Amino acid sequence: MTHRSPDAAPWWRSAVVYQIYPRSFQDTTGDGVGDLAGIARRLDHVVALGVDAIWISPIYPSPMKDFGYDVADYCAVDPLFGTLADFDALVAAAHARGLAVLLDFVPSHTSDEHPWFRESRSSRENARRDWYVWADPAPGGGPPNNWLSEFGGPAWSLDEATGQYWLHIYLREQPALNWRNPDVQAAMLDVMRFWFDRGVDGFRVDAVEHLVPSAALTDNPPDPAWRPGMQEARALHRAYTAHQPEVFDAARAMRRVAGEYAPERLLIGEAYGTLPEVMAYYGGEGLDGFQLPFNFQLIFAEWRAESIASMVEGYEAALPAGAWPNWVMGNHDRPRIAGRIGPAQARVAAMLLMTLRGTPTIYQGEELGMVDVPIPPEMAHDPMEKNAPGQGFGRDPVRTPIPWEDGPKAGFTTDEPWLPIGGAPPVSAQAADPGSMLALYRRLTALRRAEPALSLGSYRTLACADDVLVFERRHGERRLVVALNFADAERPLAHEGPVLLSTHAGDRVAGRLAPNEGRVMEG
Ligand code: NOJ
Repeated sequence: MTHRSPDAAPWWRSAVVYQIYPRSFQDTTGDGVGDLAGIARRLDHVVALGVDAIWISPIYPSPMKDFGYDVADYCAVDPLFGTLADFDALVAAAHARGLAVLLDFVPSHTSDEHPWFRESRSSRENARRDWYVWADPAPGGGPPNNWLSEFGGPAWSLDEATGQYWLHIYLREQPALNWRNPDVQAAMLDVMRFWFDRGVDGFRVDAVEHLVPSAALTDNPPDPAWRPGMQEARALHRAYTAHQPEVFDAARAMRRVAGEYAPERLLIGEAYGTLPEVMAYYGGEGLDGFQLPFNFQLIFAEWRAESIASMVEGYEAALPAGAWPNWVMGNHDRPRIAGRIGPAQARVAAMLLMTLRGTPTIYQGEELGMVDVPIPPEMAHDPMEKNAPGQGFGRDPVRTPIPWEDGPKAGFTTDEPWLPIGGAPPVSAQAADPGSMLALYRRLTALRRAEPALSLGSYRTLACADDVLVFERRHGERRLVVALNFADAERPLAHEGPVLLSTHAGDRVAGRLAPNEGRVMEG
């Protein structure tokens, strides 16, 4: 690890994380799907972007029913992505360039093709029967309770041979592990050690809120906020399936494993929840849970200065003492930010993400201003789309390959890409254009690296009115002021100071922000 934080803070506090969705980053084998050698080949892009860590979505052997989030072997690499040797080479290459490597850890469910599940399913007496969550049919027959799969339909499937249902919070091909079984815990914690021993710097922990559903199997109550047209799973409030008390013990157990290593490894938790629920993943008073439970609020935020300001204030106020914030605007599951708010505001959003207090995560393609790419129905891959066609829940449009160069295959592959390529001008064109989104991101990461006030400084809202949010970042004597115009019209600006960076080219007009302009100024 070569990235260091100013003030001897842990490295990840001043770091910028970059999420790589390996299927869509760079193909080197000509099969239309990205791979580990492709990531290694494109590390120059990652370094030039100015990030400090890459988080790679799952690379493990998998039937790919949920595109790698259905793991059939936790301690190997799917041939589609390469080999363990390719992985070791990637880690070495990344470390040599000062990049930390984070993997995706999927502890709440395996693939139904994992040997553990095959054994578990084979008979009620099998030693691994209790490694998964099995339950008898309801008294009158049918599933044990009303729990719903995130992908639609019941969260239970019947195994005819043994007469019991297995739980799957996601696809039926993703049986839920029984984290209450100490042997399961031990095996999964050993998976972490396997990768830590190979040099991995941390994990993003998948679907952690669903890790330990209630043992009583109590029905979930209806959610009054649900309306027709919303995802079926949202019809129930996840009162007994998500954020159960044992989940937080599990987070602590994972953290203890991260702490067995020096320097301590980083754990980022994926848990969608209310502010208090998310905060609970930091752990108790010693902050003995995840260092960074993902903060997804920007993904759902209403894009107005006032809403963003109150969201930031609410989040800052809710943080436990000593806990470090983090921010995310998108990932492989959610519509892309540039499509949601438009290209001009996407530049404002980039500046916001890179100037708020806390570790930002950039999802690959955000740095290009990528928008969702329409997917013809016959090319749909995602089960979320296939289970509810045409309803707009599919995640394929946000998972399309990175356009690297001009041309039909965009430098991504030599064959047919697994999903259509598009969504933004290619990297090569943007790298040559000082007005591009890529150029803006590079300037933002460089400024953040040069200014501890941006990476580690305190946050204070200075003003929020008339579509303009102004905030201060301060570190020691250094004071920077960020002003963001959420309107497509000029706005007055009270603060005047030397401009370090603007989303806009050309001369700055003192006392005024251009439409959709963001500025970082000296205080
Ligand atoms: C969250 C992941 O981000 C998503 O892609 C996946 O489908 C679910 N967890 C299940 O693992």
